[in-house]
Amino acid sequence: MSDFLKVSRDGDVAIVIIDNPPVNALSFHVREPLMQALVELRDDPSVAAIVIACAGRTFVAGADITEFGKPVQQPELRAIVATLETIAKPTIAAIHGTALGGGLELALGCHFRVTDAGAKLGLPEVKLGLLPGGGGTVRLPRLVGALKALKMIVSGASIGAEEAHAAGLVDAVFEGDLTTHAVNFAREIARKGGPFTPVRDRDEGLKTTDLAAFDTEAADLAKKARGLEAPIACAQAVRNAVTLHFDEALAAERALFVKLVASDQSRAQRHLFFAEREAAKIPGKDFIKRRIARVGVIGAGTMGGGIAMAFANGGYPVTLLETSQEALRRGLATIDKNYAVSVTRGSLTEDAKRQRLARFTGSTDYADLADCDLIVEAVFEDMTVKKEVFGRLEAAAKPGAILATNTSYLDINEIAASTSRPQDVLGLHFFSPANVMKLLEIVRAEKTAPDALAAVVDLARRIGKVAVVVGVCHGFVGNRMLAARGAESEALLLEGATPRQVDQAFTDFGWPMGPFQMGDLAGLDIGWRNRKARGQTAVIADTLCEQGRFGQKTGRGYYLYEAGARTAVPDPEVEALIRDKAAEKGIALRAVGAEEIIERTLYPLVNEGARILEEGIAARASDIDVVWVNGYGFPVGKGGPMFWAGLEGAAKIIERLEYWHQRTGRQVFKPAPLLKRMAETGSWEAGE
Ligand code: 3HC
Ligand code: NAI
Repeated sequence: MSDFLKVSRDGDVAIVIIDNPPVNALSFHVREPLMQALVELRDDPSVAAIVIACAGRTFVAGADITEFGKPVQQPELRAIVATLETIAKPTIAAIHGTALGGGLELALGCHFRVTDAGAKLGLPEVKLGLLPGGGGTVRLPRLVGALKALKMIVSGASIGAEEAHAAGLVDAVFEGDLTTHAVNFAREIARKGGPFTPVRDRDEGLKTTDLAAFDTEAADLAKKARGLEAPIACAQAVRNAVTLHFDEALAAERALFVKLVASDQSRAQRHLFFAEREAAKIPGKDFIKRRIARVGVIGAGTMGGGIAMAFANGGYPVTLLETSQEALRRGLATIDKNYAVSVTRGSLTEDAKRQRLARFTGSTDYADLADCDLIVEAVFEDMTVKKEVFGRLEAAAKPGAILATNTSYLDINEIAASTSRPQDVLGLHFFSPANVMKLLEIVRAEKTAPDALAAVVDLARRIGKVAVVVGVCHGFVGNRMLAARGAESEALLLEGATPRQVDQAFTDFGWPMGPFQMGDLAGLDIGWRNRKARGQTAVIADTLCEQGRFGQKTGRGYYLYEAGARTAVPDPEVEALIRDKAAEKGIALRAVGAEEIIERTLYPLVNEGARILEEGIAARASDIDVVWVNGYGFPVGKGGPMFWAGLEGAAKIIERLEYWHQRTGRQVFKPAPLLKRMAETGSWEAGE
């Protein structure tokens, strides 16, 4: 017995209850009493069966991630599972909520697993740059087969109770009080006297594994790993479960785990796990949040439609407002089409589609927004238009309604100042496509009320977004840093790099795509319009746009795209254009290496991040990492730009920035004071 673990009895069935809020992680203070209880119950002749269950909202959600990287305290999870397997009476895991990672591995040490209908089971260690280290790679395939285990472990995705039941991972799914059912189940099994075989000895399914099919699947998954070591190690470990003796496979799993847990990639991914949760916390005291039950969205274009879908997908009724019936019809038709595509792909049922569509109300009348608690505008990126919309909202929105703008660049303080209720105004900067992209920059303006801010932070979580609170500046955190990264891309081309070489350096680094492929995908005309509005030029990008080369949507941009294909094919015409423009500027082309490409694009990215921190636009360095990983595809294995700066070495970054600053005189290379301090202290935190 301890504060974190209780043992009770129901006749001859013992019930072990783990109680370690919030998610019952297997911290040392749980493992120690758990081991002791299992040994006692094993040796107690009055106990006929043992049920392991959890208090609170979930079964064990895994090892305690905060313990990784610290000295291991015995007993380890592996020893607990091994002890479970020495118990000759039936052991039953009663799973509600989520059995994840070490939690599922604990359950795999039991003879049986029973769940309620809402339970989810999975081994998500790969998302932390790890593989299951408590025997999961060796035991799960014994129940569900090697191929399904491979898919589950390499993806880290959970499966629901019914699927787990059908796959053989779960023995029974119950409605009603789970512990009562589990106790009855245990008593019945004990009464029958078996059979109950530990999972380690159930290897019949493995013997029929088609290793060729397994290897094909594993090779396919390896290709998608993009330089991450964990998915490859996961696949290797599951293969070992098929080809090696149980104990050998277990030892091999351990060796892989020990290597991964010490790797930079896993440190980076663990950093991101906590960074995402930290980002949702607003510094300062807890605020009572305003209630949001109904949402209004103004503008049913690219962003407005996606934003409305994001809310409807999260269960919120949405009023969508446009300037004309025709624009409204077009917007709603696009939404309808997007849902239909999801149905065709099998990610949405016809029924769910109907339910989501039923949440939309279309309107062209601002009076219809009167019952909305939050209204998000996504109209044209033009200050006059935005102010006009906010002016109309002032009359139409109820008192206390939160008024949000999805502007990419405009000054939200100025928008707020144009209304008589600046305390209700904030930015909700979604990323395109807004119904898919996880990132949401929540922009806190000078006068935004804390209870409005707290309400949208909570709402973001409810609709499955990763929220980061940022301050007002041109481009906020993400787009402002993107501009710093992009500043040198053109220069690199004019000095001799091809778009393909630059993009290749990025994909080799681990990005899903490089800046030119990304530009082609997003549409080059967006940046072109933005530059024109600000009186800026970019000779190559501007010329491409003048030639109607807007990227994928016109079939031509930095690359060629054949007949609607997404494959980027290098275009000799673009290379000739670059040569001509370089000649006009009198620049002699030279070979540009991958290292230089990274230095000139990513070091300024870090430098701008440091300035953003200095100015208090982001509250923490880790918030910037969350923005870049979730909104721009910064490789997870490198933890985001600010974490990566630590790996790369701030001193080295400064040295190279100074070199390029001297050579070019460009401001993006001038090292930020905070970066210098980071080089001295090893931390982004102020005052350390
Ligand atoms: N260890 C330590 N802390 C954890 C944790 C864990 N495994 N899982 C969650 N937490 C903490 C979070 O940091 C958060 O702390 P905070 O309130 O101080 O910010 C708190 O618990 C609540 O977490 P969430 O906000 O994520 O709560 P949700 O209800 O949204 O989600 C969850 C619950 C689905 C369980 C989610 O927390 C989750 O996915 N957790 C991680 C699961 C996981 O990765 N397990 C594998 C761990 S590695 C492992 O088991 C290795 C083994 O093979 C040896
Ligand atoms: P869009 O041109 O696709 O859509 C704008 C819509 O607003 C149009 O349907 C238009 O009819 C409607 N509209 C214009 N004035 C209106 C008014 N007064 N009342 C009601 N509706 C009105 O533009 P997009 O791309 O959706 O951008 C919208 C906003 O989102 C802009 O501020 C943009 O900067 C921002 N944004 C755009 C991103 C993108 O990738 N496209 C990403 C993040 C933000």
